[in-house]
Amino acid sequence: MSEVHDLRGILSRRPLRILAISGSLRKASFSTAILKALNHEEFPNITIAVRTLEGIPLYNEDLDTKPALSAIAQIRAEVLESDGVVIATPEYNHGIPGVLKNVLDWTSRPAFASCFRGKPVLIMTSAPGGTGGVRAQYQLRETLVSMLAHLVPGREILLAGVEKRVCDGRFTDPGTLRVLTMGIEALREEILSRPIQGEGA
Ligand SMILES: Cc1cc2nc3c(=O)[nH]c(=O)nc-3n(C[C@H](O)[C@H](O)[C@H](O)COP(=O)(O)O)c2cc1C
Repeated sequence: MSEVHDLRGILSRRPLRILAISGSLRKASFSTAILKALNHEEFPNITIAVRTLEGIPLYNEDLDTKPALSAIAQIRAEVLESDGVVIATPEYNHGIPGVLKNVLDWTSRPAFASCFRGKPVLIMTSAPGGTGGVRAQYQLRETLVSMLAHLVPGREILLAGVEKRVCDGRFTDPGTLRVLTMGIEALREEILSRPIQGEGA
C-alpha cells in the first residue's frame, strides 16, 4: 500500500470538528433544537459545536477593520478551525433570516479568501409548514456559492412539520434522524475527500 493510501486511511479516522450554526435567535427555535438534538447523537469521530448568533453587530464595512471586532474575530475563527459547517435555518418571508445573512456577510470577508473559502457546508431548512423552508434553502445556497464554500451535494434536507420531529432535545421519529445522519455522513465524506495538504493533488 502506498504512503498516500496509508495517510488517507489514517485521515479517514481522524476526529472531525463540526460547527453547527442556527439561523434563528428564538429561545424555543426548532432550528437550534435540531442542531442540539444532533449534538446528542453519536457520530463516530465527530464532535458538533452548536452556535447561535446573539451579539453579532449589523454588517457595516466601516466596522470591518483589522483587527476585527471581537465577536467577528471569534465567529471567523470558529469557522476557520472547524473541519465543516452545518447551517440549520428557518425561512423568513421566502428568504433567509437577516441574522443569518448578516453573519454570512461578516464571514465572507476578505472576499474570496474568507474563512468559508473551500469549507464543506451542509445546509438544512425547517418549518412548521409543508414546504420545509425550501425557498430559503436556495437563497442560502447562492450566498454560500458566492463565498466559495463547498456545499455538500445530494438531496436537500427540508424538515417540514418540524414541531413534530423534535421534542425535549431529542428526535421524535427515526425518519428525521435517518435523513440527518445521511447528511452528516455526506458532510464527513465531503471533508475527507478534500485534497490532503501537501499531496499536490
Ligand atoms: C418573520 C417571519 C417570517 C416567516 N416566513 C415564513 C416563510 O416564508 N415560510 C415558512 O415556511 N415559514 C415562515 N415563518 C414561520 C417559521 O417557519 C416558523 O416561525 C419557524 O418555527 C421559525 O424557525 P425557528 O423555530 O427555528 O425559530 C416565518 C416566521 C417569521 C417570524
